[in-house]
Amino acid sequence: MQTTSLGGLEVSRLGLGVMGMSAFYTGKDESEEGSIRTIRRAIDLGVTHLDTAEVYGGGANEALLGRAVKGRRDEVVLATKFGLISHTGRSGADSTPVNVRLAVEGSLQRLGTDLYYQHRVDPNTPIEDTVGALADLVTQGKVRYIGLSEAGPATIRRAHAVHPVAAVQSEYSLWTRDPEADVLPVLRELGIGLVPYSPLGHGFLTGNIRSLEGLDADDWRRTNPRFTGGNLERNLRIVDEVRAVATESGATPAQVALAWLLAQGEDINPIPGTRRVERLEENIAADGIRLTPAQIGRLNNLTPASGDRHDRGGMAAIDR
Ligand SMILES: NC(=O)c1ccc[n+]([C@@H]2O[C@H](COP(=O)([O-])OP(=O)(O)OC[C@H]3O[C@@H](n4cnc5c(N)ncnc54)[C@H](OP(=O)(O)O)[C@@H]3O)[C@@H](O)[C@H]2O)c1
Repeated sequence: MQTTSLGGLEVSRLGLGVMGMSAFYTGKDESEEGSIRTIRRAIDLGVTHLDTAEVYGGGANEALLGRAVKGRRDEVVLATKFGLISHTGRSGADSTPVNVRLAVEGSLQRLGTDLYYQHRVDPNTPIEDTVGALADLVTQGKVRYIGLSEAGPATIRRAHAVHPVAAVQSEYSLWTRDPEADVLPVLRELGIGLVPYSPLGHGFLTGNIRSLEGLDADDWRRTNPRFTGGNLERNLRIVDEVRAVATESGATPAQVALAWLLAQGEDINPIPGTRRVERLEENIAADGIRLTPAQIGRLNNLTPASGDRHDRGGMAAIDR
């Protein structure tokens, strides 16, 4: 596996997101044995970037990842996020310095943390205050690098002026191109890496989801605008276009979705999620797939997605 640098932090070219092992998606309640096997197989295959968050399962996902990397801690970069659980009694996002200091202790106890992200920008706390608290954690040796998630260009600049930001994690994939216009140029100017989350479109771009049938009653996708109100059916056209490129290049749609992201630049570090060893192996193999310029051109011009990428509350929480 090739590696890349996130603002000086060396990680494998593809990471692994472990959120779906404890929260949001169908299968989260299955035994953790399979999930732990998948994480360990990822490390065997050279994946060194493992991503979670405090809010996934209310600490359960961090704890699962902590158990999975036991004995192999030195081989991996652990990334987690704070700010969507308030330990100070606030409702909503809480990136106050006191909450940052409280949250990190829980994450360190469950897991250990190399890259510590603010999960969403907190409109009620100046980013300078939050990053000041994060800089103190770096000085104290509690975390090594800091990041932001779904932050807009102005926030990124203000944060980076206080302490170097290693990575910004935002949704970026064949059907979510939002970071390209305003965020990516700023990241490149400042030498910050982009970590695309949901690089497989929550599984949709793999072609494996052609209806809501089979998804758990509480699967997050059942209420996501891209999957509801007739949009799922409309969006199947995108999957069919991806599949056509996949067939032509002897790859799977998931591999094409990841190879397209990797082709966007060395500073792009996707973190696809899966609970299953065989899908992990399939996804990791995208590192070796080279799309032709013509194929990349076709993928750049896919039919635009129908539906917002988050529900109304989720869209409102995104900093622009
Ligand atoms: N910063 C943020 O706000 C934020 C938001 C969302 C996610 N994230 C991070 O990003 C990571 C990845 O995003 P994500 O999990 O939302 O979405 P994703 O990686 O786009 O897709 C994950 C889904 O795709 C399925 N899948 C994976 N590989 C597959 C394959 N080869 N063939 C068929 N299906 C496949 C998985 O099912 P199985 O597990 O059943 O294989 C799962 O349901 C998360 O784990 C989390 O760490 C961050």
